[in-house]
Amino acid sequence: MFRNEFPILSSKVHGHNLVYFDNAATTQTPKTVVDSITNFYYHTNSNVHRGAHFLSQRATNEFEKARKVIANHFQAEFNQCIFTRGTTHGINLLVKGIEEYIEVHDEIVVACYEHHSNFIAFQELAKRKGAILRIIPLTQHNEFDYKAFEELISYKTRVVSLPLISNVLGEKLDVKKINQITQFYGVEFVFFDAAQIVGHNEINFNELKCSAITFSAHKCYGPTGIGAIIATHKLIKKLKPQELGGGMIEKVEFEHTSYKEDFSKLEAGTPDICGAIAFSRAIEFIEGVGIKQIKKHEEDLIDYFLQKATLVEGLNIYGTLNSYKRAGVFSMTYKDYSCYDIATLLDMKGIAIREGAHCAQPLLDILEVPSTFRVSFALYNTKEEIDYFFESLKEVSSLLYK
Ligand SMILES: Cc1ncc(COP(=O)(O)O)c(C=O)c1O
Repeated sequence: MFRNEFPILSSKVHGHNLVYFDNAATTQTPKTVVDSITNFYYHTNSNVHRGAHFLSQRATNEFEKARKVIANHFQAEFNQCIFTRGTTHGINLLVKGIEEYIEVHDEIVVACYEHHSNFIAFQELAKRKGAILRIIPLTQHNEFDYKAFEELISYKTRVVSLPLISNVLGEKLDVKKINQITQFYGVEFVFFDAAQIVGHNEINFNELKCSAITFSAHKCYGPTGIGAIIATHKLIKKLKPQELGGGMIEKVEFEHTSYKEDFSKLEAGTPDICGAIAFSRAIEFIEGVGIKQIKKHEEDLIDYFLQKATLVEGLNIYGTLNSYKRAGVFSMTYKDYSCYDIATLLDMKGIAIREGAHCAQPLLDILEVPSTFRVSFALYNTKEEIDYFFESLKEVSSLLYK
């Protein structure tokens, strides 16, 4: 779908057509996003919010319009969107921003398959504050354990932070089930890591009934180095600014500084203006294609991949095999072949996949494997590419040590 919009997809890699299956790490960028970056530096480059001159006003208008476009995508208001450097930065801002509200013996609940960005930030918060970090295990089928979640949550739970889609297991979180429990116990801070869902599935921020979501542009057809938080007004009001500087102050005096109350208190310094505008182009691109259409296309790919994968003896996919519950992210091992060797040999066939611990080392300890190789889809992938992947996997496995 829309392959022509992505010039990089016509690259040759080691003499083969590029098959790009590393989308959970970073998606490719359509022309409209690349053009917006060039256009910004040709026609708009200037600083925002601070100038009376034409270019500064143009940059400010485009930057603030980008905020609206992104917020709108989640049915949120423009002043609920905070620009960040990406999911990691967003989570860190949230964690540090709520730190002063966390007390000794408060409980923080995360999943065992968190991305390190989500896990370490909360692990350190718990250590600093004497809070207790509770970790939701997997069921025996390597799925999110809702029963264990229910048992772990109590009136002591102050924070729940979970990924909407696991970047390793590909499992989609059942948000309704989570909300029933967090609302029952009145959990104050509920954060969802949306890094793997934006651009793949529809999200209505209000329906998530959480305090905030975080995501990165480069995982949904935008540039690297920019992302956003969408947060409730209530949370924004409570968050303490962590980075101090220009753009976020009300008044600075030698003895005292007061800060703005709105989202801008969390955006100190010159933002990534060009990146934010390009990010909004990526969102417009997604909306132009249609999120429902993207979802349907990726669901077809998921079904097709699962059908083919189950025919390969010795190929082990981690996580649910129920396509209804999963996204197009498949972490696998193949017999006892080295995942690194598989990824390297597939690269020689032009196939880009990822190998390693996927920033989820505690999960790999649970799965008792040092690494997996991961295939992940985006809107431009095709069934023919999946066929080629399985043919190539068969071919490379014949070269591997048994
Ligand atoms: C689920 C999840 N959370 C967080 C991140 C971190 O994203 P970034 O590196 O863009 O900050 C990733 C990246 O792979 C991810 O998959």
